[in-house]
Amino acid sequence: MDFSAVYQQKLTDAASLAARVENGWNIGMDAALAQAPGFAEALAARAAQNEVSGVWVQTLLDVYPFAFYQDEALSGKLNGMSWFSGGFARKAINAGFADIIPAYYRDMPGHIRRAWDYDAVVIAASPMDKHGYFSLSCTSSYSEAMLDKTKHIFLEVNRELPRAVCGTQIHISRVDAVIENDHALPVLPQATPDELSTTIGGYIAELIPDGACIQLGIGAIPDAVGAALKTKHDLGIHTEMFTDSMVELIECGAVNNSKKQIHRYQSVTTFAYGSQRIYDYIDDNPGIAIMPVDYVNDPAVICKNDNVISINAALEVDLWGQVCAESIGTRHVSGSGGQVDYVRGACQSRGGKSFIAFPSTAKGGTISKIKPILTPGAIVTTAKNDVDYVVTEYGVAHLRGESLASRARQLIAIAHPDFRDELTFDAKKRGMMI
Ligand code: COA
Repeated sequence: MDFSAVYQQKLTDAASLAARVENGWNIGMDAALAQAPGFAEALAARAAQNEVSGVWVQTLLDVYPFAFYQDEALSGKLNGMSWFSGGFARKAINAGFADIIPAYYRDMPGHIRRAWDYDAVVIAASPMDKHGYFSLSCTSSYSEAMLDKTKHIFLEVNRELPRAVCGTQIHISRVDAVIENDHALPVLPQATPDELSTTIGGYIAELIPDGACIQLGIGAIPDAVGAALKTKHDLGIHTEMFTDSMVELIECGAVNNSKKQIHRYQSVTTFAYGSQRIYDYIDDNPGIAIMPVDYVNDPAVICKNDNVISINAALEVDLWGQVCAESIGTRHVSGSGGQVDYVRGACQSRGGKSFIAFPSTAKGGTISKIKPILTPGAIVTTAKNDVDYVVTEYGVAHLRGESLASRARQLIAIAHPDFRDELTFDAKKRGMMI
């Protein structure tokens, strides 16, 4: 069959595609590089002209400056709803013109299959191959679930998107329309780990054995851990987000995936986002599998590997060990993402450990991130019964299975010295320091 003829029949431009959107449509997009900026821009132009109303677009970790997260004047015509906010969605949610769906990342495909229907799902894809398939490139996440629950499938093809040979594919026969939009891919700014992150990274690296299987979250500290792992051997990768530091660990030989129990000799992730170096690594590379999140982030799957190590960040932790990674009081900062999926998966893995790591203070040393109680309104991301290791630049606290008094003592010992007296006073007053 001549798939290129079919492709040409379905090919249109962004404005014509956006013109198909009707009032009240629910439109689905997936995480990061799966998002379709050309279509979104054309749709926003229609909304600005009052040509649509009541349209919602779902995203996860928005990486483009979408008008529906930036322009409050579009509210009621075109609004965004996030499964995990990035920078723009965060502001719109706090300003009250975007919505958020609280969920563990592993559960999102299930929620979609049970509770959501889409009029259109719009996905960025790499160019069609000779068999009529498009690679969904750096993201698998919940795309398959959305594709199963939509009336229309639109693709935005970008020649810059790498082709993931072990990732989600879609055939031209399922697609309703295609637009082409070649542009340089967005990159995640890389922070050079500072002294504090390097210290924290060093503590964690000491507790990671050769042969461990790692998950690293977003941010300076997970990156610093990555940098500290370069002298290890036979590491494996089973992670939610594939990052630059992981490519470095593969290229320097520290990661070879040889000791994994599942997906041996292959890194596993549900999406990738970082620098061009990652995108070049993924292109046509069978060494990385980009798979749906209900599989990748399932604790029952994660723990099939031995010695799983998960490293994630937090905004604050209280003396019970409750971890808040989503809000500062009532102010929304982030979604749950896969933090709990990996905390649980790592703790169920033979020899596994989960680390919540952060600098001891915020705002130039004026705020302790270890608190007697969480700031009122704070969201508990990882519960006290799930938390395992907590790490700051002052050391490591091991909380899992420990008593309240032991938790309080250990957490105070890794708090910033300026706040230890205050924390001790509060803990004693509450009878925690037996
Ligand atoms: N009180 C007041 N402000 C605080 C604070 C606190 N306890 N802790 C942090 N802040 C401020 C910081 O100063 C910073 O402010 P700025 O933007 O004005 O500089 C901001 O909040 C963000 O803090 P930072 O420590 O830089 O965040 P980060 O980029 O390291 O991200 C999380 C931390 C928790 C938001 C992030 O890891 C996340 O989104 N987690 C969600 C769940 C998860 O872990 N998912 C799996 C990983 S993919």
